[in-house]
Amino acid sequence: MALPTVDTLQSEEAVLERIHKQHMIETLDHMSPLYLEGMKRILTVSADTELISSPAYYHAAVHAPSLNAFGSAVAIIQDELGHAHIAYRLLRDLGVDTEQLIFEREPRDFKYPYAFDIPLDSWTELIVANAFYDRMGYTLLSDVYQSTTFGPWKRALVKVDKEETFHLRHGEQGMRKINQDRSGHEELQKAVDWMFLLSIEWCGLPDSLKKHGEQLEYGFKGHSNDELRQIWMSSTVPLCEHLQIKVPAHYDESQQKYVIDCPFPSHFDAESKRWLLEDGPCTWDDVMKRWKARGPMNEQFVGMVQRGKREMIRLLEQDA
Ligand SMILES: [Fe+2]
Ligand SMILES: [Fe+2]
Repeated sequence: MALPTVDTLQSEEAVLERIHKQHMIETLDHMSPLYLEGMKRILTVSADTELISSPAYYHAAVHAPSLNAFGSAVAIIQDELGHAHIAYRLLRDLGVDTEQLIFEREPRDFKYPYAFDIPLDSWTELIVANAFYDRMGYTLLSDVYQSTTFGPWKRALVKVDKEETFHLRHGEQGMRKINQDRSGHEELQKAVDWMFLLSIEWCGLPDSLKKHGEQLEYGFKGHSNDELRQIWMSSTVPLCEHLQIKVPAHYDESQQKYVIDCPFPSHFDAESKRWLLEDGPCTWDDVMKRWKARGPMNEQFVGMVQRGKREMIRLLEQDA
């Protein structure tokens, strides 16, 4: 059976009509050129994020305090590889050469959030990543699950959502446990000091600067970036307050929303993992520049993923 090609794509009007009738988009030949490009873009971000979270988490999992703890971290890494596989598989069904995408792309061209370019250097940092980053993954993917018009992704996200819930609970329970003694509490505070704002940044440009384009119209997203930031903070800020960990945000009764209490966005010193808050806020253009340049672990983490295939090709060439 021949795969649908770009020639069989629908017009924009036909796709919007289908969406307004609340029919799902199931295959490539239900899509228009804009829908296809938008879906490829959002799936690539999702797939890359899941994929690179694996080496990022592994980098810290080796510091697990027990074999049991190491096992739970590896189970999470295995889930993340499964999530990546789902998203790349959907991309392949849309005609993308995923072998090239995963194994031959330049590290700086990967589309995962900047937060994963900053090394998690301890078990405590991995636990906070589960509580913060997996909570962000859960927030963004729940939004996609509720609003996406692409049927195959929506069905696949039922499983992904359940597993992300396990990851973020692992983080929250881990934080409660580490918080039980004074040195653990201090370590948590240190991790939160650099990881909180990196998570907040992850949602992207504020609504006032963002052009939504096709994202809302085609049902790629339900909530705006600012709304997603609020959803994330509505779980994370109370968790930290409960543990008496300071975060630069609080709920403002008069505005009925969470507000950030420090200069934001800000410059970040990736080497010392420190926000340069004393310099005051920077612009979102500065943030985009930092993201585009990528951070210290980009090449190493992408290299860990790409290395296996290169080694296999070398071995096959030796045998030939
Ligand atoms: Fe995941
Ligand atoms: Fe996760």
